[in-house]
Amino acid sequence: MEFRVTAASVLEWAGDGLAIGLFEDAVELTGDLAALDERLSGTLKELIAEAEFKGKEGSTTAARVGSGSPIRKVLLVGLGKPDKLKLDGIRRAAAAVARLARKEKCKTLGISLPVWNGEPATTAQAIVEGAELALYQDNRFKSDPEEKGNPIEQVELLGFAGQEAAIVRARQICSGVILARELVAAPANIVTPITLAETAESIAREYGLGLEILEREDCEKLGMGAFLGVAQASDLPPKFIHLTYKPDGTPRRKLAIIGKGLTFDSGGLNIKGAGSGIEMMKTDMGGAAATLGAAKAIAQLKPDVEVHFISAATENMISGHALHPGDILTASNGKTIEINNTDAEGRLTLADALVFAEKLGLDAMIDLATLTGACVVALGDDIAGLWSPDDAIAHELLQASELSGEKVWQMPMEEKYFDGMKSLVADMKNTGPRPGGSITAALFLKQFVKETPWAHLDIAGPVWVDKDNGYNSAGATGYGVRLLVSWVLGG
Ligand code: BES
Ligand code: MN
Ligand code: ZN
Repeated sequence: MEFRVTAASVLEWAGDGLAIGLFEDAVELTGDLAALDERLSGTLKELIAEAEFKGKEGSTTAARVGSGSPIRKVLLVGLGKPDKLKLDGIRRAAAAVARLARKEKCKTLGISLPVWNGEPATTAQAIVEGAELALYQDNRFKSDPEEKGNPIEQVELLGFAGQEAAIVRARQICSGVILARELVAAPANIVTPITLAETAESIAREYGLGLEILEREDCEKLGMGAFLGVAQASDLPPKFIHLTYKPDGTPRRKLAIIGKGLTFDSGGLNIKGAGSGIEMMKTDMGGAAATLGAAKAIAQLKPDVEVHFISAATENMISGHALHPGDILTASNGKTIEINNTDAEGRLTLADALVFAEKLGLDAMIDLATLTGACVVALGDDIAGLWSPDDAIAHELLQASELSGEKVWQMPMEEKYFDGMKSLVADMKNTGPRPGGSITAALFLKQFVKETPWAHLDIAGPVWVDKDNGYNSAGATGYGVRLLVSWVLGG
């Protein structure tokens, strides 16, 4: 599928499907659209009336245009109220028309959507992201897929002449999102710590990033007892992945992105029981997937910012050398942890990753983790939890969220709750009481950060969707890549 910009107006464009965005309660046709309707002998007006099309956000309708016309079908998409239009509204509208054009078997699609906020480049980028991500299908594990291919060969953005660079940028970002989706969707017998490290290697090779993979012995030397404790029951070797993007010239900022990389979480000896969704725990490397996806995108986008991409990858398994509940581990900052629940393993791997990252001398770092079921209970499937003791980064992330459409909600760092993690025998336990479980998880991580501005995102909800949501088919979402890219470029 190819994306292009064109200076053609709706009156000049020729092709299979012409998609037009209309605002709510403003579906009377004026200007070019009135002229187009006349040219099409009133088809647009008829369609709006017959379909009772009101321009509600996300609504769509389509009609065949009489033969002899330079366009075969018209597609309408609702944009909601003009004063409520967000950038993500544009992205979703593009997603909706792309899906509709596929259904309507259009080989060529013209998209006419308004410029958001006077920013044509940002708008063009969002249109391409929406269309590309909505049409992506993962058929890697099907021998006879139901949906066979995408008939759309060419998409043209009407009125966006000169925005070629925005298309390139969008496609680079989408390549990262799709990588993240594929990593999350692949099962634990395909995506292992070894293959995650290989993925990092191929990104490094293809885009010229620096790569360091720490093996078990290297991690031992660094005293990463928390990470290695989690890894000790697996038959697969742990891999500590560290990719580095360095810009030409002096970086404006030095950042790190750290992703939880549990390629499978059985719970360990506190094994996940019936109804716990253990069969979904292949998604427990969603943070690492977003991290690698962001690495792939950023390596192509080449911002003037240095970025470190880090994941302590392993499985949480059961065997004769598994962690015993009650074991005490020592993390690489010297702090001791009583493991009162082996299923709270993500924070243990992140503890050593945060200590490692902080030694790089950063301006800021963020971790992304499918950390707690409690966060899903609090915020549901669409929204990640955000914790940070640093208001400036929290603000940067909220802004990145607004632009990327990847939702986050700031949660409290309630220090008092750390009392629930006090241990009789060690510096802390790894879990507190059930109430506020996602907050105590964030407070645990905070013990491993000294002074670097840091934020934590709990992505256990949005890493996966059970139902198609318009621009995400059911399954892995690749959540975080767009948010991270937006943060790195904008912050
Ligand atoms: N990977 C899970 C969290 C999770 C749950 C992710 C549901 C996605 C969907 C994490 O390692 C975990 O098991 N957390 C425990 C923590 C508890 C033992 C304090 C949880 O949320 O139950
Ligand atoms: Mn767990
Ligand atoms: Zn986990």
